[in-house]
Amino acid sequence: MAETTTNWLAACRVEDAVENGGVCVKHGEEQIALFYFTRRNEWYATQNECPHRKQMALSRGMIGTITDEPKVACPFHKKNFSLKTGECLSGDECAIKTYPVKVENGTVYIALNA
Ligand code: FES
Repeated sequence: MAETTTNWLAACRVEDAVENGGVCVKHGEEQIALFYFTRRNEWYATQNECPHRKQMALSRGMIGTITDEPKVACPFHKKNFSLKTGECLSGDECAIKTYPVKVENGTVYIALNA
């Protein structure tokens, strides 16, 4: 079985992230929403495009929790997506892609191929 190596993208420094909010990380044509959930001391990354109306908007969404599930609400029509699984928590079929995140020596990394 072939072993795959995780491709970690150095996205930003911890101090450049928005506390309890998101930033957009561009990697080529790809846009990734990176969230620093300060209250929970957790990091999440998802696709930036909201699947509802294809808006590049999730990095500007409000983060919070629904029954302890961390989520982001799209700023356009307020659909909620789990930051852990990408599942739409508003009852729709659409889901978003999520990416593993790690922090090492003050740099935030996003796994592009995990
Ligand atoms: S575009 Fe995101 S909820 Fe409609």
